[in-house]
Amino acid sequence: MSADIVIGQTPHGEAIRIDIKELLATRLLVQGNSGSGKSHLLRRLLEESAAVVQQVVIDPEGDFVSLAEEFGHVVIDGAAYGEAEIARLGARIRQHRASVVLALDELEIDQQMKCAAQFLGALFDAPREQWYPALVVVDEAQMFAPSAAGEVSEEARRVSLGAMTNLMCRGRKRGLAGVIATQRLAKLAKNVAAEASNFLMGRTFLDIDMVRAADLLGMERRQAEQIRDLARGQFLGLGPAIARRPVAVNIGPVRTGAKTVTPGLVPLPTASTEDMRELLHAGLHIEPERPEFPRPAPRPRVDVETLSENIAATGPVAERPERPEPEPEENRAAMVEILNAMAQEDDCTFQSSTTLFQDFTIRCRMKGISVRGLDATMFRRGFAAALAGIEDPEDERWTDVINLGKHVPDDALAPFYVIARAAMDGEPCPDDMDLARIYGTSSPRRVQRLLDYLEKDGLIVVRTDFSGKRSVGLPDLGVTTAPIEA
Ligand SMILES: Nc1ncnc2c1ncn2[C@@H]1O[C@H](COP(=O)(O)OP(=O)(O)OP(=O)(O)O)[C@@H](O)[C@H]1O
Ligand SMILES: [Mg+2]
Repeated sequence: MSADIVIGQTPHGEAIRIDIKELLATRLLVQGNSGSGKSHLLRRLLEESAAVVQQVVIDPEGDFVSLAEEFGHVVIDGAAYGEAEIARLGARIRQHRASVVLALDELEIDQQMKCAAQFLGALFDAPREQWYPALVVVDEAQMFAPSAAGEVSEEARRVSLGAMTNLMCRGRKRGLAGVIATQRLAKLAKNVAAEASNFLMGRTFLDIDMVRAADLLGMERRQAEQIRDLARGQFLGLGPAIARRPVAVNIGPVRTGAKTVTPGLVPLPTASTEDMRELLHAGLHIEPERPEFPRPAPRPRVDVETLSENIAATGPVAERPERPEPEPEENRAAMVEILNAMAQEDDCTFQSSTTLFQDFTIRCRMKGISVRGLDATMFRRGFAAALAGIEDPEDERWTDVINLGKHVPDDALAPFYVIARAAMDGEPCPDDMDLARIYGTSSPRRVQRLLDYLEKDGLIVVRTDFSGKRSVGLPDLGVTTAPIEA
């Protein structure tokens, strides 16, 4: 039986194939911005290979349930089962080699992560005689394997990341081949991304993701720009199951449809008020039983009178007041929070300040914070403070350090703050390795030059005592780090 499927065509009309047998051994990573066509691509892959290989789809949006009609996938509604049942289902899927879609769209994000973890864990733990090959497709993989702590609970993140790591790093022996898609490579845990040897990279706007995508494709950085110009449904592919050199591919059509479509106008239902009331209230007293993935507490019930009054008080849409701009103080706190979150990300100091600033403004916009009046210098200085663990630069404790920092050039500010902080806390000065990381370099000589520079400017004084221990003083602040073996 041939295990090749056609995923699409080059712009010249040449068919591009994916070798499913090879894919099972070498996994696939898909990246592209929202709307670039990742889910369409996954659907094409699933449809074309449905008859060839068992498929398990982890579907956070409930996009893939339509595969059931045409290809007979069993849809498992994640919200309808408890933990033990999900685990049992996972085990049976391996036993019976069933193709399934685990739809998680009815769950809150924490529960989506826990449910997927439980399910993947059960697939992973199947007994050896059931290690049949299966594609395990995970859309929005950054949600299940995030690179940094976010708004979800630590427990959800831990179990979910663990399950995804098992899938990508140790699944192959057990027959499980991960196919994962993400909007942003930077958001996806590195160890999870690193295990895929096949890539399909779609349109990507952010420099940081574009550069990583280009790196994975083995393209030179100056060629990376073309990733920004890809059209919807167009991807660059590379890997043992696709092609030995990067190829451009226009993903082919699909037979089933996504559940979610771009919202358009839909005729209103014609049911009478009475029928509608009946529809809305039928069986309302029946509580679903889901004790093991608890949902957040329901919102307090508002009685109809109050609700009607509230609605009446709002007036017609046109008269509604504009949403007030957040207060400057509120803005500042939210920006500081974003800076602190960015500073927590691995390797952030090794990215260009333009990329970081761009990332920052996007995050601000996503939170509805206006970035008017904010420039790259302000950003760099705020980010330096965040890197040094100065969580709120307006805190009085830091006033003197921040004032002194005005004499320090932007790029030297983060290491300077780190040294100043250590001195204020009476701790040893961070070693050259730490300073290099904060400075965004791998060269110890650059760190030495930086220290020399700060010392020449009188901002720091480096002393080595008789026993050879080094301490760094800040004469303006009257503080010195604890001595440490140089
Ligand atoms: N190759 C293609 N041919 C035809 N239509 C496509 C193709 N790729 C994507 N589309 C259409 O473009 C729209 C967006 O695609 P899709 O939902 O796959 O994007 P996505 O990358 O998954 O976005 P998101 O990250 O927001 O989920 C869909 O309506 C899809 O049908
Ligand atoms: Mg999608």
